[in-house]
Amino acid sequence: KRRPVAEAIARLDRMMDLDKGRMSRDIFWDRDIYEQELEKIFARCWLFVGHESQIPKSGDFVSTYMGEDNVIIVRQKDNSIRGFLNTCPHRGNKVTFADLGNARQFVCNYHGWAFGIDGGLKGMHASEAYEATGMDKNEHSLHPVAQIDSYKGLIFATLDPNAPPLAEYLGDFRYYLDAIFDMDEGGTEFVGGCVKSVIQCNWKYASENFVGDILHAGWTHDSGAKAMVGGSVAEVHKLPHESYQVNFNGHGWEFNQDIVGNCATLGDKDLMKYLYVLQPKVQERLGEVRSKMIGAISSCTLFPNTSFLPGQNTFRTWHPRGPGQIELHTWTFVNKKAPQEIKDKWRKGTMMTFSPSGVFEMDDGENWEYSTKTNAGFVTRQQDLYLGLGQNTRITDTDLPCNVFRGQVNEANQRAFYQRWLDLMKAQEWQDVPQRDVPTLPTTSTKETA
Ligand code: FES
Ligand code: FE
Repeated sequence: KRRPVAEAIARLDRMMDLDKGRMSRDIFWDRDIYEQELEKIFARCWLFVGHESQIPKSGDFVSTYMGEDNVIIVRQKDNSIRGFLNTCPHRGNKVTFADLGNARQFVCNYHGWAFGIDGGLKGMHASEAYEATGMDKNEHSLHPVAQIDSYKGLIFATLDPNAPPLAEYLGDFRYYLDAIFDMDEGGTEFVGGCVKSVIQCNWKYASENFVGDILHAGWTHDSGAKAMVGGSVAEVHKLPHESYQVNFNGHGWEFNQDIVGNCATLGDKDLMKYLYVLQPKVQERLGEVRSKMIGAISSCTLFPNTSFLPGQNTFRTWHPRGPGQIELHTWTFVNKKAPQEIKDKWRKGTMMTFSPSGVFEMDDGENWEYSTKTNAGFVTRQQDLYLGLGQNTRITDTDLPCNVFRGQVNEANQRAFYQRWLDLMKAQEWQDVPQRDVPTLPTTSTKETA
């Protein structure tokens, strides 16, 4: 028998004491909690849905997921971007089966309803039959996503009309995003296609790994790093360089000031040289701290389920498929103005490391699968987990924005990630979500409302 949801949430409160580094295992296993996540996290938050470089022209579209909701993101004739649920309002079939393409209209396979790229129903097979009933086509458009907006080439959408603007959702974290997505004047692009795979793990294990778990790299990935990139990552916790975790609204980044980490750049001399040559220009553009983040061994998660690795240039979304499975979508991102051979090297590098056959991805996947599956045990599930590294490492005498913690080997970002998760799970409305982090950057935006 399932516990009522309210009881499951109350139990979280009892079991999760993040300040003391204690966390419940239920959140990785419980089906009721998962159903609540679809509603309270994935149907409310701003989620990454595509990169502008994927849809440059009118009619260009990508289809992706927001939680388990399948959506189409499509460039309009006026160059704006809109999004719709990929489901026909007649009987519910998908209106496109392509992940990426260009369309003048989306025509449903089942009974031939045809929708414009603006989502409007334009016509259908045997239209006389509908006309005889007096049906109004305007009432049967594709369901729009509530809000869509971009930041530095990254397109985000939310299914909640009451969600705060994207600029507020990302908040001061935009300062750090610029270090990667605005390091060069041409911005970034995705190259090659999307690589998809399935991992039998809870989505949060993946997100929290990228939000700030350099700790595992020196252990889990050490042999892989020696074999693949000619160097060890075992000593990363002793990096002499300034090393931090920063977080805001549950988004987190861990980085150091090593400029070009051997493992981050796959040990490739040409990639290192490219970044060394670029660094002074980035320093001029964004200042010293961010100019040293461009290829450092570092990682980032945008709450809830989008992550990337600077220097290795893999970008990914962890789409939930029940409490024990994710569908992972990955791309390679590069500076648009980088020479072609540099772009090719990065694409090849991500295939060798962070693809379904990549050495680091396999290392991670197995860890996350067993971290998830052990919770099948009834007694196991009653035990809590430890999340207490780096308490008392917060620093305030710094010019850096966001919550800043000294030391990359830390669990401050994971605690902040799960705190945001808990705040959202407990809140009925956006205005009930506690505002823990105070923005210093302007949060006005060019939000488009569908
Ligand atoms: Fe799409 Fe009938 S389900 S036309
Ligand atoms: Fe890893």
